[in-house]
Amino acid sequence: MPKKQYRIMNIVGARPNMVKMAPLIRAMQQIPEFLPMLVHTGQHYDYLMSQVFFDQLGMPAPDYNLEVGSGSQHAQTAEIIRRFGELLQQERPDMVVVVGDVNSTFACSLVAVKEGIPLAHVEAGLRSGDRTMPEEINRVLTDSIADLLFTTEESGSQNLIREGISPEKVFFVGNTMIDSLVHSIDAARASALVGKLALTRRGFGVLTLHRPATVDHPEKLRAVLAAIAEISKRLPILFPVHPRTQGKLAAAGIENLNSWNGESSLPGKGIWMMGPVGYLDFLGLVDSAAFVITDSGGIQEESTFMGVPCLTFRDNTERPATIEYGTNRLVGTDPESLVKNADDLLSRAGQGSNDNLKVPPLWDGHAAERIVEILHRYLQQHAE
Ligand code: UD1
Ligand code: UDP
Repeated sequence: MPKKQYRIMNIVGARPNMVKMAPLIRAMQQIPEFLPMLVHTGQHYDYLMSQVFFDQLGMPAPDYNLEVGSGSQHAQTAEIIRRFGELLQQERPDMVVVVGDVNSTFACSLVAVKEGIPLAHVEAGLRSGDRTMPEEINRVLTDSIADLLFTTEESGSQNLIREGISPEKVFFVGNTMIDSLVHSIDAARASALVGKLALTRRGFGVLTLHRPATVDHPEKLRAVLAAIAEISKRLPILFPVHPRTQGKLAAAGIENLNSWNGESSLPGKGIWMMGPVGYLDFLGLVDSAAFVITDSGGIQEESTFMGVPCLTFRDNTERPATIEYGTNRLVGTDPESLVKNADDLLSRAGQGSNDNLKVPPLWDGHAAERIVEILHRYLQQHAE
């Protein structure tokens, strides 16, 4: 009798999803019984928010693109549910795999479970405890309905068990975002951007901001940028601007920031805006930076792995392992505290801070292989 082939439908939508998914697809391609399919919801669509990750991570083109585009939280989620619902009813795969915490993650999870298709959630269990974040709602809802939950750090497993999820569904496997980083670090170090900007190693900072809580209120956005301008009197700070933030800067009438012209080296200190940069360029920048200031989730993890100090401009983090083991400091959302923390960091720079570099357990570049092995076993046990 021919062996059963398992049709696995993998979902991506937003920039960090591509980074988390690429190693899973690669690992699935190694299993002859697996037929991985890729669905892009189209939540992110600009070249530098989407296709560049496929190109640089060697991910195959999506089998389906739902092309939902942007919209309000509700309109976007609803549209993904509607379009993915139609696709799932046609395709009826053996399993749906979602990653992360974006609207695409939750919307596709809901559809899978309502269609009776087993659902696996990669990066389950992270909790900020802050229900004003759309991501926290997406995480709690996705985890409550998933059949298999893969966690990146011990806190994730503990949170799930505390919420009453049955322990046999929970697997602590490590971090597929770090798998991608391990896979890409040599190419990232060879990326041309640091050289083009003529930057000195550890002579500049990197800034990213895109959370609604940071960028959606003009007064708060102005205040954090004023604090960063203060820090940037000591060294240049590169600011690859997320499209959400681009829109909010324009709406708030904030126009007094420098923009890098994309060609010559940086003229000097100050904040230098640029569009989002490609994955390898971004990792190359972070790897060489003195520090990162961010409100991103994934960048807290990548900077920890690279041993680059990270100042997280938020009141909470769903990734406590980056503080416990790594280089992350939660500075809160008071701009003065950000300046103080940056001053403190810069005054200690060069004092051997990387000597006892630690990374969280199982962040070893092999999380995707562990996940795929567990999926394989599950499918064999549950095959009709
Ligand atoms: C989304 C995720 C967030 C994640 C982030 C990663 C949700 C609720 N939010 O936030 O968790 O951290 O992605 O980057 O799912 N836009 C473009 N081009 C694009 C994509 C977006 O111009 O390719 C602009 C649009 O104006 C859009 C805005 O960015 O309205 C926000 O995009 P959206 O996907 O709704 O949320 P993000 O802020 O990107
Ligand atoms: N990233 C990138 N270019 C940029 C900014 C970020 O390639 O200009 C990558 C980064 O290395 C990480 C991912 O995008 O892999 C993080 O995405 P983001 O901060 O948008 O989302 P979050 O992790 O907060 O959900």
